[in-house]
Formats: sequence, C-alpha cells, structure tokens
Amino acid sequence: MDIDSKVISMTSSSSSSSPIRWWSEETVAVVTGANKGIGFALVKRLAELGLTVVLTARDVAKGKEAVESLAARGLRVEFCRLDVADGSSILAFAAWLKRAFGGLDILVNNAAVSFNEIDTNSVEHAETVIRTNFYGSKLLIEALLPLFRRCAASSRILNMSSQLGLLSKVSNPTVREVLGDEERLTVPTIEHLVASFLDHVKAGTWEEQGWPKVWTDYSVSKLALNAYSRLLAKQEAGRGLSVNCFCPGFTRTSMTRGRGRRTPEEAAEVAAMLVLLPPREVPTGKFFKWRTPALFSKL
Ligand SMILES: NC(=O)c1ccc[n+]([C@@H]2O[C@H](COP(=O)([O-])OP(=O)(O)OC[C@H]3O[C@@H](n4cnc5c(N)ncnc54)[C@H](OP(=O)(O)O)[C@@H]3O)[C@@H](O)[C@H]2O)c1
Repeated sequence: MDIDSKVISMTSSSSSSSPIRWWSEETVAVVTGANKGIGFALVKRLAELGLTVVLTARDVAKGKEAVESLAARGLRVEFCRLDVADGSSILAFAAWLKRAFGGLDILVNNAAVSFNEIDTNSVEHAETVIRTNFYGSKLLIEALLPLFRRCAASSRILNMSSQLGLLSKVSNPTVREVLGDEERLTVPTIEHLVASFLDHVKAGTWEEQGWPKVWTDYSVSKLALNAYSRLLAKQEAGRGLSVNCFCPGFTRTSMTRGRGRRTPEEAAEVAAMLVLLPPREVPTGKFFKWRTPALFSKL
C-alpha cells in the first residue's frame, strides 16, 4: 500500500483506528497554541495514544485550564508557556524543554492568528500575522533543532499550514518565479519576499501587487511557511528529521468564528495520524491536503 492510500484508509475509518504503534511514553511531542481549537484536540489525541505531550499556550491561565480539562478526562499532559511571537519566550521554552526532557521527537507548529472575518480581507494586523505564523514557527524550529533526538527517523516536524498559502494563489510573476525555483531558493530570499509584502502593506499598494486575494496577510504567512518547510526538509534530509505541512481544511474553530466543514477533533485525528506515520513511511517536504485523492501536492 503506498502512503497516499494508507493515509486515506486511516483517515476515512472510525476515530478508534490507530496507526502502527512505533512510539512509547518516552516519545515527546510538543504542540504550540494548544489551549483551544485544533491544537487542543491534537494534544488530547496524542495523549490518548500514549505519548508524552507538552501542551503550550501563550496565556498561562488558558493553558492550565486546558491541561486541567484533560486531567478531568484522565489524560495527563505537561504544560509550559510559549508565545511564539516572542523570541525570549521561545528561548525560555527551549531551555525548559531541555531541562525537563532532554529533547523532543515531534513538534507541531500549530499556533497561528488571523484577524479577518471569513468574508473580509484587512491587512491591518499584517505584521503580527507574519510574526506569529511564519517567524513564530521558524524561530521555534531553529531553537529546537539541536534538541531533536533524531532517533530511527522518528523525529518529525508538522507545520499546520493552509491551502491559502499555496503558490497557485499568487499572481505576482516575480514571487512565483522566486518561490518556484527549488534550486536557488534560500531562507533570506523568503524573508526578503515577506518584507516586500509588508512594505507593500505600509505603502498601501498590496492589492495591486499580485499577492493572494483571500485573507492576504494570513495567506502570505503560510506561503512563506510552506517555502521554508520545503527548504528545511531538504536541509534535514538523511538526518533523521522529517518536515511536512498539513492543511486541515475549513474547520470550526475561533479562527473561522465557528464556521467550517469539520470539527477540530476530526482535523486533529488526521494531524495525529500524519505525525505518527511509521518511520519507514514518513515522507518529507510534502504538503498534506485533507482527504483528497491527491494527498500530496507541491508545497
Ligand atoms: N480552522 C481552519 O479552518 C484552519 C484551516 C487551515 C489551517 N488552519 C491552521 O490550523 C492551526 C490551528 O488553527 P485553529 O483553527 O485551531 O485556530 P484557533 O482556534 O484560533 O487556535 C489558534 C491557537 O494559536 C494560539 N496562538 C495565537 N498566537 C499565538 C502566539 N503568539 N503564541 C502561541 N500561541 C498562539 C491561540 O492562542 P490564544 O487562545 O491565546 O489566542 C490558539 O491557541 C493554525 O495554524 C491555522 O492556521 C486552520
């Protein structure tokens, strides 16, 4: 069975289906932005499956409340504060993780913001969106890279992304060419594109520059995250660390003001299955799209 059919068969069966168990309670998984939404549901699912899970949240009270609600269901998870938009919080978290566990196996970059209603498209908070969704994930990855155990190809990064950030959503020919050039793309180039987007926002010219048309700032943040993930996957190939992106699709959370086609638990079920694919089958540098036959598409 190839990966595509395996993913489809696992995700389309009942929620009681579990992937082949290669992990143990020694396996440490970190999920960002996990006090609610898909992140919270993912922590719950991974804890049910027997991993050691670190629930992180930027707000201590909300994080602890989430931990307690899991404890009330008989699930024990660890907690540490982590604001991915704050470099010092990232460093403090990395130091805590090293002290508490010595390292980690799985990182799910789930924390993200969007300030738009479903049918609106303001870029008023573009800087915060880029700082949180792109730089937050990138800086956290950089801080945690030395802590990955890189054991038997079981170390994984899953970046929660969005189809809104696929290259096909961009009409600017320069951006398309630069991001599409797999051989020459570099991290500074991605950062330069992101900076030029923020310059266009400041200059009020962003609408005519061919950036994605829906939830523009959010889409650019995920566009950059996808490109960075692709580069990181290449950099880490053969070094026991896979890097993939996952779009859960339109899911009923605060980000969508409760609208969507599926529940956070359904999205988390698929995310959990993806980060727990057996070591020999886990791909790298892929973009997973919810339940479509073409489950892998170019980042
Ligand atoms: N829902 C969808 O339809 C959909 C579709 C495609 C992709 N996604 C992606 O799925 C992931 C989860 O989204 P969701 O729908 O579950 O959203 P959500 O319910 O709004 O949850 C977002 C989480 O991120 C946290 N967060 C925001 N800024 C943070 C920061 N600076 N540091 C740490 N945590 C921070 C939030 O914490 P607070 O409670 O403190 O704000 C919250 O816990 C995101 O990456 C999103 O882009 C969602």
